[in-house]
Amino acid sequence: MLRSKIGGIGYYVPEKVVTNHDLMKVMDTSDEWIQERTGIVERRYAKKHEETTATMGVEAAKIAIERAGITAKDVDMIIFATLSPDYYFPGSGVLLQRMLGMNGIGALDIRNQCSGFVYGLSIADQFVKTGMYKNVLLVGSEFHSCGLDFTTRGRNVSVIFGDGAGAVVIQPTDKENQGILSTHLHADGDGAEKLAYFNPGCHGGTFLDKEKFGYPDQEYGGIFLTDKMIEDEDIYPYMEGQAVFKFAVTKFPEVIMEALETNGYTKEDIDMLIPHQANLRISQFVQHRLKLPDNKVWNNIQKYGNTTAASIPIALCEAWEAGAVKEGDLVCLAAFGSGFTWASALLRW
Ligand code: ACO
Repeated sequence: MLRSKIGGIGYYVPEKVVTNHDLMKVMDTSDEWIQERTGIVERRYAKKHEETTATMGVEAAKIAIERAGITAKDVDMIIFATLSPDYYFPGSGVLLQRMLGMNGIGALDIRNQCSGFVYGLSIADQFVKTGMYKNVLLVGSEFHSCGLDFTTRGRNVSVIFGDGAGAVVIQPTDKENQGILSTHLHADGDGAEKLAYFNPGCHGGTFLDKEKFGYPDQEYGGIFLTDKMIEDEDIYPYMEGQAVFKFAVTKFPEVIMEALETNGYTKEDIDMLIPHQANLRISQFVQHRLKLPDNKVWNNIQKYGNTTAASIPIALCEAWEAGAVKEGDLVCLAAFGSGFTWASALLRW
């Protein structure tokens, strides 16, 4: 059977660097607290009114397309992963399509948060290895800074996230030992309300406290975004940090081992692990659990924060550009995030 490979990869991060000290000017936090709990020193924020989730995706995609040795016209399908889309609908995929002049091809937007890139990779892999498409453009992009609570109330979430984009072109390969060996996708909806962006939304309090969000008593509409939600500022991401941490440190090693065992490998065979950059403490926990040396785990959350669907392609691209991922290397991608969702992919570079 045909196999698929990453034929080109690129990333884009906005110019604006925001340090922990910058955040200390707007909320009650400290560089020490942030570094100790998350490892983050600084992150990038997109330029409001100029950059968007889609425009950052375009910048990353241009590099990936060029490195794949094709032009935008050769792309057969777009997969766009984000939790911070330009519009509630339509998805950012069509905006990227418009900007890159790729009219007519399919644009699929997926919503799997921190696992979005690996979920997208799995989808792209199916289209390519069945022979349906030759060039699938997969983009992960996030504009977190536009929707965070920058007061002290939101500090447990806001200090963690940053903006950026990563992209790959998935192409067929006929080389015996190269490409995507397997992908593994998982979810557990019991964790849905542990890390979420509830409002605006159509839940109408069904799974939450109906009273809290103050839904007007009217027959039609009136639940998507209410005045009370805005007044109470119930319009920001919600996270139960410790619950997320506990689940993540269990699921990361599980899904990495699943990928290795499926292909008859052991953890000693890994040349590079690219974990979703959730939190440096989570990555270090996973590294120690798997007893991997420092040079086999790529971390860059210190510079960019958690960029959700963009974090794995940014980290993979950086590692490849630095020569830390080379032809023939066994590379494992692993993600965990809101949903809960978690996933892995094993590749021979
Ligand atoms: N600065 C200073 N103090 C803060 C901040 C901040 N930015 N945020 C919270 N605090 C305070 C809290 O108010 C609390 O104060 P209190 O003791 O007076 O009540 C204290 O710090 C401890 O708060 P906790 O929430 O218990 O802190 P914890 O040690 O759990 O660390 C953290 C919080 C870093 C979020 C941790 O739970 C964590 O890493 N969780 C994993 C979540 C994660 O990685 N999310 C990423 C997104 S999901 C993903 O990508 C997988």
